[in-house]
Amino acid sequence: MWQEDYRKKCISAEAAIKKLQGMRRIVVGHACSEPTTLIDALVDQKTLFDKLEIVHMVAMGKSAYTAPEMAAYFRHNALFAGGSTRAAIQANRADYTPCFLYEVPRLFKNGCLPVDAALIQLSRPDAHGYCSFGLSNDYTKPAAEAAKVVIAEVNDQMPRTFGDNFIHVSELDYIVETSVPLLQMARAAIGDTERAIGGYCAELVDNGSTLQLGIGGIPDAVLLSLADKKGLGIHSEMFSDGVVDLYEAGVITNQNKTLHKGQMVVTFVMGTDRLYKFIDDNPKVAFYPVDYVNHPAVIAKNYKMVSINACIEVDIMGQVSSESIGYKQFSGTGGQVDYVRGASMAEGGKSIIAMPSTAKGGTVSRIVPLLQEGSAVTTSRNDVQYIVTEYGIADMRGKTLKARAQALVNIAHPNFRSELAEAVEKRYKER
Ligand code: COA
Repeated sequence: MWQEDYRKKCISAEAAIKKLQGMRRIVVGHACSEPTTLIDALVDQKTLFDKLEIVHMVAMGKSAYTAPEMAAYFRHNALFAGGSTRAAIQANRADYTPCFLYEVPRLFKNGCLPVDAALIQLSRPDAHGYCSFGLSNDYTKPAAEAAKVVIAEVNDQMPRTFGDNFIHVSELDYIVETSVPLLQMARAAIGDTERAIGGYCAELVDNGSTLQLGIGGIPDAVLLSLADKKGLGIHSEMFSDGVVDLYEAGVITNQNKTLHKGQMVVTFVMGTDRLYKFIDDNPKVAFYPVDYVNHPAVIAKNYKMVSINACIEVDIMGQVSSESIGYKQFSGTGGQVDYVRGASMAEGGKSIIAMPSTAKGGTVSRIVPLLQEGSAVTTSRNDVQYIVTEYGIADMRGKTLKARAQALVNIAHPNFRSELAEAVEKRYKER
């Protein structure tokens, strides 16, 4: 009986962390599914470890293991930089590994980044002994499948969610029972600029489209602008509270989807209790591993797939930098390129990169002649399609370098247009 197996595997967080002694690499459950009780216990027992590698992506917890005084015990390997890990990466106390999000499960499974232990958070088991991955399937489920040892924090506050999103008690090595609030992500502030960007993005979204929405204020503003649309669907790496509003308003129906008709497909969610209550025991929301949800060939099966993502900077050739500010690794590639490519390949698909025209209180243009020294190109000039600012839409497809540059000048902030136009003229003048 699974119940007896479950009881035998239950230990304290402190005892569970002791099982990691001598290991080289652990993977931590993603985003708002981070097993916070286990991570606190790990940090408390730091002296057991000698530069234990901690692999994580969007870290929504405290990431105390990246503090300067932890350097002798832990080394963070970030597949995406976040608010609590960015400083350590920028100080070279932690590492950043470039990757596409859809390929992360393969890194864990094919011996490229072997996983000694996966520290995950799960819902309580159902009557058959299956625990749900709750808020995050993404790389968390594949990491548990690849790991030599699986330690699960079973939290009775974790929602039970559907899809290919379960693990049986027999596949867990150690269980730590908890009842703790889940990590949350508050709604982003939306101002006039975001609203204007949302309006232009909405012009590109036909009724019946399937959407992917990235992270931050712009995706939320786009959702607000879609209130008059009909029959939209969701196939997205992640979504947040804004999607619940549109679903309850009857705008998102998922009825026109050509893949998983009637269901929202996602690999992780981040939001507030409202979202977490919505997904709990809801068969209309299906969670799958990220190597399925974000695979460009899978994304491309969605008719009228529209991807909407944000960026830091775009140069006049249309090269998009979304993850670094000069030499500083700010975030990561995440699923941006997975969706840019998948949406471009889809029948009737469109990929949109949206950004405010300026940063730093209007003092710098995000459309620039050259990317800042040290910046990484996230979406290449060959992959990019629509670029949107609060001043309009620039379509890069099929345009010469000069025509692209001119289209980008037209959507730059008026304060920067003349100097950009000069740079375009200088670069592309006939000699
Ligand atoms: N020059 C200098 N600083 C800049 C800048 C520029 N061109 N562009 C942005 N910044 C600064 C901002 O001032 C801000 O600084 P602050 O935190 O001190 O206020 C910071 O960078 C973040 O900029 P902002 O545009 O507000 O970020 P955001 O929260 O809207 O996120 C991305 C935008 C691009 C960082 C985010 O969407 C991302 O990480 N994308 C890559 C991954 C992805 O697209 N995944 C998709 C699926 S989830």
